[in-house]
Amino acid sequence: NKKHALSPISYAPEDLTTPNVPLRVPGNESMSLRRDNASALERMFGGAKEDGLNLMLSSGYRTYSYQVNLYNGYVASKGQAWADNISARPGHSEHQTGLAADIEPTSKTCEIDACFGETPEGKWLASNAYKYGYIIRYPVDKVGITGYDYEPWHVRYVGVELSTEMHSTKVSTLEEFFNVSGGKNY
Ligand code: DAL
Ligand code: ZN
Repeated sequence: NKKHALSPISYAPEDLTTPNVPLRVPGNESMSLRRDNASALERMFGGAKEDGLNLMLSSGYRTYSYQVNLYNGYVASKGQAWADNISARPGHSEHQTGLAADIEPTSKTCEIDACFGETPEGKWLASNAYKYGYIIRYPVDKVGITGYDYEPWHVRYVGVELSTEMHSTKVSTLEEFFNVSGGKNY
């Protein structure tokens, strides 16, 4: 999060692989994930499909330099204060760990938009992600704690043991569960 950078700042995982799921940008490096995340995502998308919902990976692993360009682009177009509410600075993004995934419907309805949370796919994700080892990392009611606006599309792989415990204890953020600092300021 904003208080805990990756170390080294340009960290890159060694077990990246592309999950066998619908991909927004086939062939792009951003379609890869760490291995455990990739297999959990395949299981989760399979579960959604059994319920008649078709999910797609929108953005997975992002390199330090990819995040540099993404973040700088937001700053250039809308300013740093705006950018910091929606995008991590390089070296601070969960996408750089390979353990995050942005998800959208294959129909692209509400693509990377808060309204995704109101779609059948977004509601399914919110209710079922924990069964596969994921949490919705930036909940609508925890903006001050995570330091980011609501992102119903962004899941973080934490493993089934932890996601299940967070679900049953109703502790939705890693900051609260592990009692570590977070928030909007770096
Ligand atoms: N949008 C999330 C916070 C990121 O940039 O990692
Ligand atoms: Zn994301």
